Amino acid sequence: MHHERIAILDYGSQYTRLITRRLRELGAFGLVYGPGATAQEIGGPDLKGVILSGGPNSVMEAGAPDLDPAIMALGVPILGICYGQQLLARNLGGVLHRSSRREYGKAMVRISDPEALLTQGMENEQQVWMSHGDHVEKAPEGFKVTAHTRGVPVAAMEDRGRRIYGIQFHPEVTHTTHGSKVLLNFLHVCGMKLDWNTGQFIEEKTKAIRKQVGKGRVVLGLSGGVDSSVAALLLHKAIGKQLTCVFVDTGVMRKDEMLQVQEAFAPFDMQVRWVDASREFFSALEGVSDPEQKRKIIGRTFIEIFDKEAQQVSADFLAQGTLYPDVIESSGIGGAVLVKSHHNVGGLPETMKLQLVEPLRELFKDEVRRTGLALGLPEDMVWRHPFPGPGLAVRIPGCVTPDRVKILQKADAIFIEELKASGWYRNTSQCFAVLLPVMTVGIMGDERTYENMCALRAVTSEDFMTADWARLPHDLLEKVAQRIVNEVRGINRVVFDITSKPPATIEYE
Ligand code: XMP
Repeated sequence: MHHERIAILDYGSQYTRLITRRLRELGAFGLVYGPGATAQEIGGPDLKGVILSGGPNSVMEAGAPDLDPAIMALGVPILGICYGQQLLARNLGGVLHRSSRREYGKAMVRISDPEALLTQGMENEQQVWMSHGDHVEKAPEGFKVTAHTRGVPVAAMEDRGRRIYGIQFHPEVTHTTHGSKVLLNFLHVCGMKLDWNTGQFIEEKTKAIRKQVGKGRVVLGLSGGVDSSVAALLLHKAIGKQLTCVFVDTGVMRKDEMLQVQEAFAPFDMQVRWVDASREFFSALEGVSDPEQKRKIIGRTFIEIFDKEAQQVSADFLAQGTLYPDVIESSGIGGAVLVKSHHNVGGLPETMKLQLVEPLRELFKDEVRRTGLALGLPEDMVWRHPFPGPGLAVRIPGCVTPDRVKILQKADAIFIEELKASGWYRNTSQCFAVLLPVMTVGIMGDERTYENMCALRAVTSEDFMTADWARLPHDLLEKVAQRIVNEVRGINRVVFDITSKPPATIEYE
């Protein structure tokens, strides 16, 4: 990638990812590096500036993460936020105030220098978000103090000559009014072009893919989820017939899943091997009720089948729709990538010895969606809720049989159809039906029934690490329940799950 870049050194702040987000919203491409990153690692002709994030440590503690002095000599502007500012102050000879107490929350900041570059466009007094123990008491020589709060004498400082800037508050947090303005001012100082957008990304990425792959052959596991779909389209655009996708129907997918994916990709003339492996999966799952066993069996069977297909293609590369949050979370920044096994049943079979192509590694989910739209992926696919690799098998506690899967597919499809019709699908993060291994008594017409119970799960979530149950309207729930009991033979009772995560998980197994 030759895109102009801001390097963000992560000193452990919970907001580091937000910095990247804000920069991208402003049209600037930023990448996160570890606190120990060297000038050599982050340097390069595309580097335009460096941001040092906040962090939980005190710069006055022994062993507190430091900054490679050579980074100061790279000649690009540097912005230190919170811990980053304190680190700059310490290293350049300022005075720090050590505090045992953390100040946390909103504060009012006063801009004392209307000419200051970093705080241009801010009001004289405004709300900012603080989260710190120590603070800078006296700025190092050469710096001008440009803002303060009641408790913090150096809330912002700058040395225009050396192009070094520091702020105590967090511009990346929305509670800081005009926080984006501060970041934008810094980007101007860096001379960034602010042209990071989807079109540009697609163009650069297709070139990069061609360069990496050459004349090689690439195989990709297409699941119908957003990430693998967008990765597939991007690769298809870059290398056309050198890409072969493999879609494995596990038999425990949503109703008509394979058909829907086939329809979505029909206009693209992409090479896809559609593999109906439901018989293999069902026979491997026969009689198994332990959740972890089910997961393992499905994962193993998937790899076996995928491996066989990849060999037929004689692939040199394996493409995956790994996203930036996966890279940050699973590798520790800057390290080697390790895809979370939990989230990737079709994960890399190590024995395959294929090189990886991961065209979405630098993107956040919403950027992936925008890229998908730009590449012509239908809206329905772009806005799909995530679906776990082990599929309906983890939504059927107990043994998984083709009959039970069919029952659940019907109920689930009704739920999703009504969510879409009412507009709630887009306002929720993940919704599905679960077939409980409990029989209950009911009455239908004049007859007693004794059938399965079905649970509806609907959650909202930012990152799926935590989730809240969605407050679906009672009328909608009633309609879904009525339809399921009337239309799906085998279910005579519907309940709605009102547990959040934690303490419950999103899935049932
Ligand atoms: P839990 O149930 O852990 O789920 O709250 C969090 C998110 O991860 C998905 N999930 C999986 N995805 N393989 C996957 O590919 C799995 O084994 C798996 N288990 C859970 C789940 O659907 C939710 O989005």
